[in-house]
Amino acid sequence: MSVTVRVPAKVNVQLAVGAARPDGYHDLANVFLAVSLYDEVTATPADGLRVTCAGPDADQVPLDRTNLAARAAVALAERHGHTPDVHLHIAKDIPVAGGMAGGSADGAGALLACDALWGTGASRAELLDICAELGSDVPFSLVGGAALGIGRGERLTELEVGGDFHWVFALAGRGLSTPAVFREFDRLTEGVDIPEPAPSQPVLAALAKGDPAALAVACANDLQPAALALFPELSDTLAAGRAAGALTALVSGSGPTTAFLALDAESASDIAGVLRASGTCRDVRTAVGAAAGATVV
Ligand code: C5P
Repeated sequence: MSVTVRVPAKVNVQLAVGAARPDGYHDLANVFLAVSLYDEVTATPADGLRVTCAGPDADQVPLDRTNLAARAAVALAERHGHTPDVHLHIAKDIPVAGGMAGGSADGAGALLACDALWGTGASRAELLDICAELGSDVPFSLVGGAALGIGRGERLTELEVGGDFHWVFALAGRGLSTPAVFREFDRLTEGVDIPEPAPSQPVLAALAKGDPAALAVACANDLQPAALALFPELSDTLAAGRAAGALTALVSGSGPTTAFLALDAESASDIAGVLRASGTCRDVRTAVGAAAGATVV
């Protein structure tokens, strides 16, 4: 018997970042939107813990106990007093180290898959608790849809979404490390008085209305200058997408994936074609949000 869970990627339609806290994390006002790019995590009984991965970026995925999927299995097993004897296979479609919460998706997926496989019967609250221990973006991968994350980004309030948002994602030739991007944010803002991060009412209103033009005007990512400083070529990708008719272009989370909001599905497909031919990125994908969170398939 095995259990497969499908988990979406995310884009941040608002990422407001506060000053570094004493623990090194940053307080955020993080508006997550789940989009229809998915990883699938399959849990199968095994002697001991094993992780395998397949997909275009599989060679960049660690298969040891640092993998968030492995850490999720260990965390759940420990809480329930048994050993994590499971083979976790990740069918990876979300870009690795791309700012789309691919690792977090695998953590949330493994947690839900092991819970079902082992018949743990963990409550939603317990699962969310374990997710928050695993990483700041992991609770959102479980929940999906759209949500405001405060604190490190792990304290979620689900948000209303009034219609489909069509996106194009340009995948970069290399990854960016999230801690490195936050460190660059600290360097760029040294001596600057950073306001408390707060959710943007225009962003929440545009999501609730399902209005891509309004969302395009309102969305903002405070990590974008830091990502561009570490990866200046991303400016060319952003410019190519804007010139192709995107309503807006921004770095997804800590990057380096760039995200382009389109008016509709047809426009997304046109923008994707132009970006593919532009020579400014490794690959191009289209996706729709809001997508459902981690789901047993
Ligand atoms: O929580 P997670 O392990 O996913 O975070 C990865 C890294 O990103 C942290 O070690 C930290 O450097 C940075 N981070 C941060 N503030 C947040 C979330 C992440 O500085 N709110």
